[in-house]
Amino acid sequence: MKDTKVIKIDPIKPEEDRVREAAKYIKDGKLVIFPTETIYGIGANALDENACKEIFRIKGRPSENPLIVHVSSLAMAQEIAEIPGEYMNVIKRIWPSPITFIVKAKDKIPKRVVAGLETVAIRMPAHPVALELIKKSGVPIAAPSANPSGKPSATNATLAIKYFKGKVDCIIDSGSSFFGLESTILTLDKLKILRPGPFTREEIEIAFGQKPFVDDVARGKASAKKSISPGTKFKHYAPDTPLFLYNGDAKKLAGIIDDLGAATSLVFIGSKESCKGLAKATGCSTIELGPKANLYEIARNLFNGISLLDSMKVDFGIIESFDERGIGFAIMNRIRKASSGKSFGNLGQLSKYLEKEGY
Ligand code: TXA
Ligand code: MG
Repeated sequence: MKDTKVIKIDPIKPEEDRVREAAKYIKDGKLVIFPTETIYGIGANALDENACKEIFRIKGRPSENPLIVHVSSLAMAQEIAEIPGEYMNVIKRIWPSPITFIVKAKDKIPKRVVAGLETVAIRMPAHPVALELIKKSGVPIAAPSANPSGKPSATNATLAIKYFKGKVDCIIDSGSSFFGLESTILTLDKLKILRPGPFTREEIEIAFGQKPFVDDVARGKASAKKSISPGTKFKHYAPDTPLFLYNGDAKKLAGIIDDLGAATSLVFIGSKESCKGLAKATGCSTIELGPKANLYEIARNLFNGISLLDSMKVDFGIIESFDERGIGFAIMNRIRKASSGKSFGNLGQLSKYLEKEGY
């Protein structure tokens, strides 16, 4: 067990001495869990192969799954990666922001960090604490999401502490992340979204002046066989309790639940409005994610909401679908993964899934 130092830092006006204290751990080759605008990350000096090896170990992460390298300046990015000249101006304009670029790696970055690939994922986080930490460390920081492999990403310090106290040297507590979903990942060789996130496809189109490519992997409807995005091959967070995605008309769900006679054995996860309506009509338990009109709030509560399902001791969960515009696209990617692609629109389809589960 390590003696983990927890340092509280103001998310908007980071206290300089406290950031310096955390940065000292990074400089010394130790691990620091830190906030970003998306989720919390487990960070180490990206140029220190041994420190990065420890990240893989404590997460239980397969060595073929590369890390994202976080930078605080364009110059720092250029030391480790080749930023295509044609996109330089766009990147200067949009950085820092919740988007990660896949570009060609330079030799300086250890092979272990990029899992032996020719490319590296780089990102400049739009969180004052993350940016200050990188600046004061003076090195790029490699950081995957702060969760043991297969668990939901930590969107606040409390969960990061629960997961990793005693396993890392330092945890920065700056409250909750702003978005609650991991960054968008975009390959720059062909402007393709590998993972949708808070930097939306509409915003990519505006910034880059062209529509990014999107496929069923980005939609969360398929998993990549080959390693174009290594991450899409690996198992994603799904609760232990079976979870089904309802893609039909919200008003018809109460009827389906009634016909099934299953109100007491399920939990419904959805918008505040749908939860209220369904609880009233069927008496089922619900997990509210936020008002329908605020997809950012839904995004922020999503991982937490889904992970609550297992603590509710029911046979299965049903989750609502959301509008796929804006951040809704990333929300639906995570929901499809958490429900392992099991979606239904009527009683017959749901019954089939339940039969398979031995219900
Ligand atoms: O918001 C985020 O991106 C957070 C915070 C901490 O910055 N980080 C994060 O890291 O989500 P992680 O490791 O959980 O997800 C990184 C994803 C993985 O799916 C990985 O396979 C992919 O990025 N990735 C990393 N390097 C890559 C590369 N060279 N080519 C393709 N995909 C890559
Ligand atoms: Mg992750």
